[in-house]
Amino acid sequence: MSIDADRLWRRIEALSKFTDPDRPWTRRSFTPRFLEGRKWLMAEFRAAGLETTVDAGGNLVGRLAGADPSLKPIIIGSHSDTVPSGGRYDGILGVLAGLDVAQSVVERGERLRHSLEVYDFLAEEPSEFGLSCIGSRALAGALSDEMLALTRPDGMTLRQGIGLVGGRPHELASVRRGADSVAAYVEVHIEQGRVLESQGTAIGVVTDIVGIRRERIIVSGRADHAGATPMPLRADALVGAAKLIEAAYERAGARANDPQPLVATFGRIEVSPNAANAVPGEAVLTLEVRSGDEAAVKAFGGDLVSDLKPALAALRLTVRSEPISHVPPTACAPAVRSAIAAAAASLGLSTRDLPSGAGHDGVFIARAGPIGMIFVPCLDGRSHAPEESIEPHQAADGARVLGETVRLLDATLG
Ligand code: GLV
Ligand code: MN
Ligand code: MN
Repeated sequence: MSIDADRLWRRIEALSKFTDPDRPWTRRSFTPRFLEGRKWLMAEFRAAGLETTVDAGGNLVGRLAGADPSLKPIIIGSHSDTVPSGGRYDGILGVLAGLDVAQSVVERGERLRHSLEVYDFLAEEPSEFGLSCIGSRALAGALSDEMLALTRPDGMTLRQGIGLVGGRPHELASVRRGADSVAAYVEVHIEQGRVLESQGTAIGVVTDIVGIRRERIIVSGRADHAGATPMPLRADALVGAAKLIEAAYERAGARANDPQPLVATFGRIEVSPNAANAVPGEAVLTLEVRSGDEAAVKAFGGDLVSDLKPALAALRLTVRSEPISHVPPTACAPAVRSAIAAAAASLGLSTRDLPSGAGHDGVFIARAGPIGMIFVPCLDGRSHAPEESIEPHQAADGARVLGETVRLLDATLG
């Protein structure tokens, strides 16, 4: 299945330029910038000949009807939102590779047996509502009322946010896909690590996607005057936070060479009163833990908090944690993995199996059918940073393998 490599690269350049000018490459979900990108994308989907809608969950969907309406759809795509100050290729590569594959089918006047659906999933990255993978959660029926009531700093609820991007939060049941309702889901993505580049391998065949757990850890002390409060009388919440951060760093570091390594990150911290002349009275930290070892992901935060409680109590501090989200590790399906490997081989591209340390929408789509992911190398393995970079030929390799994988799956899946 041929794709148009120049068109793909032109589109990647064009969509990536929908960025906040003062902090490239930023297109945060639920912002006017995101909606500008979406508007452009929607026009491209339509011009390519796809039946295009925004579904109730706020996903942009382009559909090509298949020849056999009794067959379940094949879904391809990724996401067009980004993290702050990064993500030039993270997400959009998969959406635009999917678009090119579908457009190539239209241009050749072909009809696949299965319907082909290209998705730009809403808010794959953690949003200002504190939740990630919002559109794919909607497909999995995994958006709870509690999640829909989450608010962002300006007070808007996620329910309102979904409406803002053109979704219909009161009709979410209409997008839900039950178990075994999708023939296959395949996503092209940059690796976001160094394995492929360091080994000179063109294509990564993802074996599984790590489990991700996020928890809010609240350290409470007492706000006081920073000049008039003697050191022995302070209850400085940030000092307690520092102890938690260091302990998590050491504990996760000790597992770096495990067969299933674990990584732990405190990527967000809010201190109050957050003033130069006040002892911090409260620190709210977001702990994120990832591993292919489900039990370890589950236990890490709780163990950390209970083990450090006495040390924090000695500093006159209390600590508690609240779960934010938990997504277990997800295996890619053997049938989709073999199709990806066969597709790459038929194109003369080298492959290797590798796990994904990044999260992806596929973990939710896996509840509805078999999934697979195609990785392409990125420069120095950098991602979620402004330096994230790929070459046009790497984007084209990913799209070609996607196209060939779709062709193989369409021919073989029932
Ligand atoms: C998504 O990019 C994630 O891994 O957090
Ligand atoms: Mn990302
Ligand atoms: Mn991504």
